[in-house]
Amino acid sequence: MFEMDTIRLGIAADHAGFEYKEAIARLLKKNGYDIKDFGTYTPESVDYPDYVHPLCNEIDAGKLDRGILLCGTGNGVAMAANKHPSVKAAVCWDNDIAVLARRHNDANVICLPARFVSLELAIEMVQLFLNTEFEGGRHKRRVDKIPLGQ
Ligand code: RB5
Repeated sequence: MFEMDTIRLGIAADHAGFEYKEAIARLLKKNGYDIKDFGTYTPESVDYPDYVHPLCNEIDAGKLDRGILLCGTGNGVAMAANKHPSVKAAVCWDNDIAVLARRHNDANVICLPARFVSLELAIEMVQLFLNTEFEGGRHKRRVDKIPLGQ
């Protein structure tokens, strides 16, 4: 299902996303992806920013290309991720939103609501996120206007 790729990926989750993270990371590794797991590594309760910021720091530093983040709703990880200047994090809950997050928003981080989508759907959204290109054009003009203070 996934193609072997050279993209440098990171994945992170809190306790609510832990099980999906394990399954998605396992599948991506099996399919040849270079994926760095930032934790959490157990189902014990944790605070999602502690896992989001280390991954997003590596995107800011140019060490990672894309990120996959999971928490219960997807919103907490997205809020933390979007504090990073190089991150465009999109909460996705169906396949069309995942495709448009790439085509129209050039999202480099997908945020998944593990308590509100099936694992099967989460995997499909990751696949679409990894395999859909940014359309550019008018969407680039809009995306370029997102950063503040430039
Ligand atoms: C954890 O219970 C939950 O609050 C967290 O996973 C996330 O949904 C926050 O946005």
